[in-house]
Amino acid sequence: MTQLFPGRFPATRLRRTRAESWSRRLVAETALSPNDLIWPVFVTHGDRNEPIASMPGVERYSLKNIGRAAKEAYDLGIPLIALFPYTEPDKRSDDGREACNMDNLVCRAIGEIRSHAPDIGVMADVALDPYTSHGQDGLVDDMGRILNDETVAVLCRQAITQARAGCHMIAPSDMMDGRIGTIRSALDEEGFQAVQIMSYAAKYASAFYGPFRDAVGSRGVLKGDKKTYQMDPANSEEALREVAMDLAEGADSVIVKPGMPYLDIVSRVKQQFGVPTFAYQVSGEYAMLVAAAQSGALEHDAAIFESLLAFKRAGADGILSYFAPKAARILMQHDTIKP
Ligand code: PBG
Repeated sequence: MTQLFPGRFPATRLRRTRAESWSRRLVAETALSPNDLIWPVFVTHGDRNEPIASMPGVERYSLKNIGRAAKEAYDLGIPLIALFPYTEPDKRSDDGREACNMDNLVCRAIGEIRSHAPDIGVMADVALDPYTSHGQDGLVDDMGRILNDETVAVLCRQAITQARAGCHMIAPSDMMDGRIGTIRSALDEEGFQAVQIMSYAAKYASAFYGPFRDAVGSRGVLKGDKKTYQMDPANSEEALREVAMDLAEGADSVIVKPGMPYLDIVSRVKQQFGVPTFAYQVSGEYAMLVAAAQSGALEHDAAIFESLLAFKRAGADGILSYFAPKAARILMQHDTIKP
């Protein structure tokens, strides 16, 4: 065949390695595996699961069903489950004391999971919002200010309560100053040296948490916003300072949250610190993707996989995602997703 442009084209043509599926698979720089997935799960009292209107396809699991769901997740290869409770309104109080009740929903769910799926990791959130009547993550004074050090004292008790119930990992999502170091010492003093801390180190005051607040029942009750403790979406240097401090205080791994709008932060954190770094694809991101797929604007599975792979490409070691079981199921069936 005659060359159309003799001598003018480069020797290297990137389309050559893209031409066939086998070649695309061979040169793929990142891959997604069930090992990368952390499944956030909502729990509720009673015998029946409940749908969550703003998160189609996600349910609150009843205590009765949570053990079986965890076993299924384990069988799909998911390493870790993150628990969030829907606390009954009459158990919510100004001081969120239900958080430190050994018999609360989270503690009972931990027990259920440990007995049905003894080899899956169990992570429990540390923050007061599912337990407070005002929906804030911390204690509030008469002026409506969030009290830092007083809150940290309660968070230590909450962490110990959850560790006693048998969780493997504590994830402080409250964004109080100094909580990682204080919780680390409190756990150590109680003999829980082996319990890991995954810190929500860079957690932004985001509009993407709306459906989560429905799921844990704090949306209607939340007074004001969380801008005095969660980060300003305008900032990234500050995220690196948060991460540096949490690591110095003893965090084993860190979370950047939300996920998709904050991939730049994921990337900088991983590059700068080289520590286990996780991204949280939050409830609003879930709702957005599902709504777009339901309207026919996006192809559901392809869009989910692309979004999850993007976290890996940005440097995340794993992703907290409500899509975890669905994604793991598809990955298991295919062994590899055709690039
Ligand atoms: C609060 C907490 C929130 C989420 C996890 N822990 C919401 C908030 O800060 O108001 C959000 C997760 C999601 O949107 O999926 N401690």
